[in-house]
Amino acid sequence: MFRLAILGSGSGSNAKNLLEYFAASNEIEIGLIAHNKSNIGIVQHALDFNIPTYLLTKENFQLSDNFLQHLIENKIDWIILAGFLWKLPVSLCQRYSDKILNIHPSLLPKYGGKGMYGHHVHEAVFHAHEKESGITIHLVNEEYDKGAIVFQATTSLTPKDTPSTIEQKVRALEIQHFPHIVEQTILAK
Ligand code: GRF
Repeated sequence: MFRLAILGSGSGSNAKNLLEYFAASNEIEIGLIAHNKSNIGIVQHALDFNIPTYLLTKENFQLSDNFLQHLIENKIDWIILAGFLWKLPVSLCQRYSDKILNIHPSLLPKYGGKGMYGHHVHEAVFHAHEKESGITIHLVNEEYDKGAIVFQATTSLTPKDTPSTIEQKVRALEIQHFPHIVEQTILAK
């Protein structure tokens, strides 16, 4: 059994989708949900699925290896970033080298990097009059959004699209693809 930790900072729709998908799996289980804010959707999803949670702080995440130790003690094999907004410490990237996946709501390398998250991405795509957008699922290294791309899916845009309809189209792709790409990537290693 591969054990995953999901890290998130928000509503957790992707985390919920992963929880639902892997609930019946005999090969992959979610062992932990870590979050850097209280009272966010992802925490409620963890409670609903009876998954242990871990509140990340600067002290346990960035200034010490406490969280890393927690992952190791809990036999976590893979880390899945699902709307997680903090940069990962080098020690975590090194210990989980090629075992961290992120989902990004654009077609990287376009609209990636610092400050490019959530609605900022969709507004930038809108203002650039792009004819398509999409999702990128990629391995994570020490630089923002620069790890090897595992999968991309695109959606067409029209002049009628707004940042909010672009977001809806991209979210539909996330829900459609993220769990099975996570599964394929892990089982292929
Ligand atoms: C998603 O659009 C994801 O691609 C991005 O952050 C958003 C997270 O949404 N990295 P949610 O918390 O999964 O609802």
